Amino acid sequence: MVTAIFPAAGQGRRMKAGINKVFLELAGRPILVRTLLRFSSCTSVDRLVVVVADDETVPIERMLHNVSGLKPYVVVAGGSERQYSVFNGLNAMDFATDIVLVHDAARPMVRAEIIEDVIIEARRSGAAIAAVKEKNTVKVVNADGVVKKTPARAGLWEIQTPQGFRKDILIKAYQKAAQDAFLGTDDASLVERLGIPVKVVQSDYRNIKVTTPEDLLVAEAFLREEGLHKAEDSLKTAISSISANFRDGLYKMRKER
Ligand code: CTP
Ligand code: MG
Repeated sequence: MVTAIFPAAGQGRRMKAGINKVFLELAGRPILVRTLLRFSSCTSVDRLVVVVADDETVPIERMLHNVSGLKPYVVVAGGSERQYSVFNGLNAMDFATDIVLVHDAARPMVRAEIIEDVIIEARRSGAAIAAVKEKNTVKVVNADGVVKKTPARAGLWEIQTPQGFRKDILIKAYQKAAQDAFLGTDDASLVERLGIPVKVVQSDYRNIKVTTPEDLLVAEAFLREEGLHKAEDSLKTAISSISANFRDGLYKMRKER
């Protein structure tokens, strides 16, 4: 069984919207709902665990209640750091889970193919994370604003979610992090501390984390384009079926003559 955990208990401070950004609408649907629907469209995903701020449990449950097409889900309360939120999510998993995916609720653009690829690689190697090659030059800068190092770009990857793990590995990693009071910025970093290799799965640059206000514009543009492609595909299907009907009709008419 594959369970996907969605940390959604942040405050969205950098978005400056005055509310948790996962409530903000993108092309008419809340970000959180879009994210959950993307995972629900994946045949390999069985269960969803949505981790939300304590005081947002009721509004989020109400919001999700009206959404059709969601895989079975539970809503649980998160913590003050993303890592604590994911930990609470782990505790809410069904016992039958063998693969755990962790995905930022704020990444609504993820494609089903990437989710499937992460699941396959997590099954095969134990730990797999979606990522894209770094496009920019990245420098390490000290507190005085002075450049300390310029790592070679060739080996740099920008890490996204979903991140997928065999359940026993991720639980062990979270237990060890708690023991050592280690706070990481993603889930894989906790697994890396166990000395377990983490495989990178090639994702795409559209799988952005909606973080600052301009990300909303970018995400809307991507969605608009996806919508246009879908409309174009159905138009093509309609046209080809009309022309096939027309051809058949013509053929019949000629035969009857
Ligand atoms: N998150 C969480 N619990 C926290 C902090 C973050 O579940 N205590 C979730 C967020 O809701 C988000 C994801 O982790 O879906 C990635 O975090 P981030 O993009 O940093 O979101 P926020 O923490 O909400 O934003 P900000 O850091 O700007 O306040
Ligand atoms: Mg944050």
